[in-house]
Amino acid sequence: MITKEQILHALSHVEDPDLKKDLVTLHMIQNIEIYPNKLKFDVVLTTPACPMKGHIEHACRNAIALFVDKDIEVDINMTSNVTSVDTSQLKGIKNIILVSSGKGGVGKSTVASNLALALAESGAKTGLLDADIYGPSLPIMFGLEGAKPMATQMPDGKTKIEPIEKFGLKLLSIGFFTDPNQPIPWRGPMATAAIKQLFNDADWGELDYLIVDMPPGTGDIHITVSQTYPISGAVIVTTPQQVALADAIKGIAMYKMEGINVPIIGIVENMAYFTPAELPENKYYIFGKDGGKRLADDNKVPFLGEIPLIKAISDAGDNGFPVVLDGDEDISEAYKNIAGRVAQEVSILANK
Ligand SMILES: Nc1ncnc2c1ncn2[C@@H]1O[C@H](COP(=O)(O)OP(=O)(O)OP(=O)(O)O)[C@@H](O)[C@H]1O
Ligand SMILES: [Mg+2]
Repeated sequence: MITKEQILHALSHVEDPDLKKDLVTLHMIQNIEIYPNKLKFDVVLTTPACPMKGHIEHACRNAIALFVDKDIEVDINMTSNVTSVDTSQLKGIKNIILVSSGKGGVGKSTVASNLALALAESGAKTGLLDADIYGPSLPIMFGLEGAKPMATQMPDGKTKIEPIEKFGLKLLSIGFFTDPNQPIPWRGPMATAAIKQLFNDADWGELDYLIVDMPPGTGDIHITVSQTYPISGAVIVTTPQQVALADAIKGIAMYKMEGINVPIIGIVENMAYFTPAELPENKYYIFGKDGGKRLADDNKVPFLGEIPLIKAISDAGDNGFPVVLDGDEDISEAYKNIAGRVAQEVSILANK
């Protein structure tokens, strides 16, 4: 009869390629069951969006075949329990991820929404908070103009704002509380008070990831959010033009400043190239090539992927139906790959 120890010994030869430790040391092997002709166990990864899932499962099968029994049936349940930085002050939220840029209009909100949706689709409990006090875009991008979140009374008697649920996400935007036709005369202190309410006074419940769509630049909101909450890291969005790259460098420098200290998860290059619908094989690098990759290399931060300039992406945002849900397979795949990379880097940071 095969023993549990034999199985653990075999799987101690399988390393998590990101965390650089073996699965047994990482306590990822659970619920081992042994039958005469069959083994069953769970592999508990650090994120459901893990891009290494298939690779790890394959390595487990090989290890059992090599060290235990090459003919036995192996039933592996690939599951996950998202790791977290210490977020005790925002109970229930495991990871807060900022989507940021130096320059405006480079596609933060589009990346943030599609990233959040891709994470939710992988099975992670995900929220999206639109922290762009000056130009909230979530209401339009999710077809929620005019939506008004409800207030609910919690068991402890406190009243909390109920995030709106759509497409499997919990959503809140400062835009739900303001008149879209009025410019918002928020001064610094008012804006920061409003943003703190969206974090603290909302009933987010249990979340693996709270994605925060940040305003452009490096202002009050960035400093307040970074200093008030435990942030897992920031995703920096840039386009390939010099002007955008120069501002992205400023954004990275701000997060690295002492007293702010937000880890950089990596760089997303948006509008990396243009592909006309009628010539799907052609790529036109109208804003220059590989600017985002070079920025990542120069700053020694991960490059998370690129998204082409495609009309469907913009149309989807305007129509309230983000492109990951509705676009063609290649576009969805590009966002899903980025989501996998983000989840992977967040797991690595949380396990450091
Ligand atoms: N890859 C893309 N292809 C085509 N259009 C895009 C792409 N990414 C973003 N857009 C469009 O570009 C415009 C700006 O994008 P978005 O609002 O996401 O940028 P932003 O960085 O959040 O802007 P702001 O700084 O104003 O918050 C939007 O109309 C959006 O639909
Ligand atoms: Mg925006």
